Amino acid sequence: MLPAYLPNPVAALSGGGTPVDLGRNFSDGKRVFGDGKTYRGLIIGIAAGIGIGLLQIWLVGINGWDSLPQHTIRSITLLSTGALLGDLFKSFFKRRFGKERGTKWPVADQYDLVAGAFLLLLLLDPAWLSAYVTIPVLIVILIITPVLHRAVNIIGYHIRVKEVPW
Ligand code: CTP
Ligand code: MG
Repeated sequence: MLPAYLPNPVAALSGGGTPVDLGRNFSDGKRVFGDGKTYRGLIIGIAAGIGIGLLQIWLVGINGWDSLPQHTIRSITLLSTGALLGDLFKSFFKRRFGKERGTKWPVADQYDLVAGAFLLLLLLDPAWLSAYVTIPVLIVILIITPVLHRAVNIIGYHIRVKEVPW
């Protein structure tokens, strides 16, 4: 899951500059995505997810860890891209519900990356998804994701990378 987990914190560290929606409003008069979704965060975040995935592929290869999930360029690209696309779509709906940038939206804020990553895998690499994301694996992911999300955001808040601890 590292290629899906890393893009969000890296986007928080590296984000800023031109927002994905270019500052434009949707037909409801509210921002399409908001200032929290930038091109820099998207590109550097996805690159970081692919980077850690390449490291995993290399480590599994040189050590012969055949019992671990066998990542491919495709699987790591889909996990990292899906994670931030899920985050982006989450913000689209967050704005439609009138929630300002940075406000709390329980459940959606924690699971957007998992939903986005697994949806892309389901559409573009279903064989990888069914081979490795079994029901017990999925249950573990659903339990650890909100815990990790909260822990990393508290750290991000204390090191002043994030304005809010969620
Ligand atoms: N970020 C970014 N580009 C992205 C995603 C995140 O630049 N595609 C950066 C922004 O600086 C953002 C921070 O990472 O403020 C934290 O991300 P997140 O919590 O997802 O954004 P919020 O500011 O909370 O905005 P939203 O309410 O839309 O979730
Ligand atoms: Mg947020």
